[in-house]
Amino acid sequence: MEKKPWGGRFQEDIDEFFEDFSESVSFDQMLYPYEIKASLAYAEALRDAGILTDKEFNLIKKGLKEIEEEIKEGKFIFSKEYEDVHMNIEKALYEKIGETAYKLHTGRSRNEQVVTDLRLYLMDECEELKGLIKDLMEAIVLKAEEYYGIIMPGFTHLQHAQPVLFSHWIMAYYEMFKAHLERLKDYEKRLKISPLGSSAFAGCPFKINREKIAKKLGFKNLTKNSVFAVSSRDFVLEILSILTFIMLDLSRLSEELILWMTQEFGFIELPERFCTGSSLMPQKKNPDSAELIRGKSAVVAGNLFQLITLMKGLPLSYNRDLQEDKPALFLALNNTKKSLKMMKLLIEELKLNKENIETQLKKGYLLATELADYLVTKGIPFRKAHHITGEIVLYAEKNGKTLEKLSLEEFKKFSQAIEEDVYQWLTMENFFKRREIFGGTGYTNVKERLEEAKRELKKL
Ligand code: ARG
Repeated sequence: MEKKPWGGRFQEDIDEFFEDFSESVSFDQMLYPYEIKASLAYAEALRDAGILTDKEFNLIKKGLKEIEEEIKEGKFIFSKEYEDVHMNIEKALYEKIGETAYKLHTGRSRNEQVVTDLRLYLMDECEELKGLIKDLMEAIVLKAEEYYGIIMPGFTHLQHAQPVLFSHWIMAYYEMFKAHLERLKDYEKRLKISPLGSSAFAGCPFKINREKIAKKLGFKNLTKNSVFAVSSRDFVLEILSILTFIMLDLSRLSEELILWMTQEFGFIELPERFCTGSSLMPQKKNPDSAELIRGKSAVVAGNLFQLITLMKGLPLSYNRDLQEDKPALFLALNNTKKSLKMMKLLIEELKLNKENIETQLKKGYLLATELADYLVTKGIPFRKAHHITGEIVLYAEKNGKTLEKLSLEEFKKFSQAIEEDVYQWLTMENFFKRREIFGGTGYTNVKERLEEAKRELKKL
């Protein structure tokens, strides 16, 4: 058997089962564009430091570019024998250009390579995520505009509570996703620091220009401690936390869509092409797309937990355990990106069932708080007004009436303060007029927030 690149001190060949057990190339091969990019920048730094001649540098550069092409075209064979993406590429380079290939590893360690590649990969992923979040925010604003003016029952404890504009309700999610976008931007400050030059953990002994490498690769700064550089996976934990936050909100929204599509609610219709039928019950139309987003949120939260558990108690600096960060990260990113796309499609296409929503509006005494507030304007302290209103609601419920259908005599039985003008208060129109506070569900405020959101989106 051929010796491993690290095999000088070994007299025994690696166990075949262990070789398979320890490989990561089956999943880290997707980092190849970053591995090549970082290797090119490092080779240039070695040349500048006088470790590679111009000729050697050019040879390495040409070899790496060829390897990149071969991988892109699917012609490259990654082999478990060379463990990971780093050694597979180094080996391929050796086969192309001979011994010069082995000079590339001067002062360099896979411990720094793997974090450099991962950081570069995540920089690209962040861009994509920001785009997907923005697309979803746009879809939300468009839907809120399309149905501007539709009043629906708002819920607390999943019970009818107060009326609310559908646009206002759905724009709550706009705010949530805007926060995720801001989180990602803030995260990028800590992500874009270059570990190259850290070597195994003690720092590179050759005079390479770290700033120049970092700049070339698009990093904003350098890691300031080489032990930290190779040991920390906070940048993986942090993105997993953000992904979990995103998925939690997608899951809540999914849950609402699923509820709203039930016979019991009947608030919305989702297009058939995002639903499935039942193999047994011919009448079924199931919101599987939303259910799967809700399900995938569990996977992503699990991936975050995997990392938390992986890191806990891990001594500095590099330990091979760290190799296990990647499957969890890749899975979480894949699930979150797909879920964001799926949700955008659902929001774009959902239709409100206005008649059903209107029927529901009549139920549940949505304007009871208005009656209490009315009594407050007549000088009755709120707690008392609340109590009186509660009694009136109970009476109305027993008699199968809505509040505005009660006669003035009936009202007066509960409070002499109630006059003819109560009927004016108990209208949807007045409910919304009284909610024109900044951030409230008043028509004007909601319109203004929609316009503001559109301006924000243009700037993003
Ligand atoms: N495949 C490894 C990982 O993902 C690369 C670093 C290996 N370093 C080492 N000293 N064995 O973590």
